[in-house]
Amino acid sequence: MTCARMILRMILLCSFAVLLFAGLDSTKAAENGLALTPPMGWNSWNKFACNVSEELIKSAADAMVSSGMKEAGYQYIVIDDCWQVGRDKDGNILADPQRFPSGIKALADYVHSKGLKFGIYSDAGTKTCAGRPGSRGHEYQDARTYASWGVDYLKYDWCNTGTANAEATYTTMHEALMASGRPIVFSLCEWGTNKPWLWAKEVGNLWRTTGDISDRWSGKIKWPNGTCCSNGVVDILDQQVGLEAFSGPGHWNDPDMLEVGNGGMTTTEYRAHFSLWCLLAAPLIAGNDLKNMTPEIKEILTNKEVIAVDQDALGKQGQRVQKDGDKEVWARPLADGSRAVILLNRGSGEAEVSVAWEDLGYPAHLSAAVRDLWAHRDLGKATGKVSAKVPSHGVVMLKIMP
Ligand code: GLA
Repeated sequence: MTCARMILRMILLCSFAVLLFAGLDSTKAAENGLALTPPMGWNSWNKFACNVSEELIKSAADAMVSSGMKEAGYQYIVIDDCWQVGRDKDGNILADPQRFPSGIKALADYVHSKGLKFGIYSDAGTKTCAGRPGSRGHEYQDARTYASWGVDYLKYDWCNTGTANAEATYTTMHEALMASGRPIVFSLCEWGTNKPWLWAKEVGNLWRTTGDISDRWSGKIKWPNGTCCSNGVVDILDQQVGLEAFSGPGHWNDPDMLEVGNGGMTTTEYRAHFSLWCLLAAPLIAGNDLKNMTPEIKEILTNKEVIAVDQDALGKQGQRVQKDGDKEVWARPLADGSRAVILLNRGSGEAEVSVAWEDLGYPAHLSAAVRDLWAHRDLGKATGKVSAKVPSHGVVMLKIMP
């Protein structure tokens, strides 16, 4: 071979290598084009735990439409743990034939026929948290199965993973999903143990930042096996401080699914829970019985002005900008230059909470229009600061528009 031909070959080889790496890089989740705003949907776990069936999932899809939640932006119907019972002789995952007699593909078709998207759950370990078969060693096979069923969203848990490396393990499933050829939102659920906000941007579209939420305002409670802990709403809130830098379009911090409507909190507390999640640009995954919602709960879950904050195109997670004992102010810049603001009262009696423009990054002399996003009322113009009386365990949520 002449010297010129050898050089030509080397140039060609190098360009292939560059193309290959560029190709691999384009399979990163942040570039899968999904979840440009935080995903909105419903998941079976918080209310129904292992009591899932095709009837339940179909009725949740029906109620999502008839309640107006679909119209408000909710899209994904996700079956959590316990739909799976085993594997066939070729290792294919099997759904519980008693609870899902028509099979998962038919269920996904049903959900799609309602104009909604369909999600499913698995686990990176040998078994799920409820002891069902996990995906370990079956990642590509399971991803292909999900794609063939029409799955649009995968929540991937972290039980029974032994000493596995979280980043490598989640990357394997990410690559399996990309290889399946179907766009699938990838929801990492490793509870923040391995600081996924530092590495998961290119692996998944959302990652849990904490242990599980419970249907209560505050208080960490140990699990029956003695490990720590399920969290109340404000316990989770406190664990979000400092994480705001890591979230953005396509890759969101997930402070866990909503408990709104599950009965353990007051309407005021549920309104606060929902408002705070929207300020945090959190995925809005309802976890209540959609078929049997009170008007107050439906009004919370479908408040379009508050949802618009969550779904704001700038995708900037809000943060705590003031703390004075039980009185806190949380704020978030929005795409139009305005600010969403939450005046939060964690105390046991009513309190006056105020926010100063400097805490919002505005000059004190600025005059701005103020709107109350729960009262759906314009409150007129304010300069320098605004204050409001806030009920115990409640919020006033405002939009400040210069
Ligand atoms: C873990 C997750 C929960 C739920 C259960 C299911 O605890 O964090 O959200 O998926 O497993 O077993």
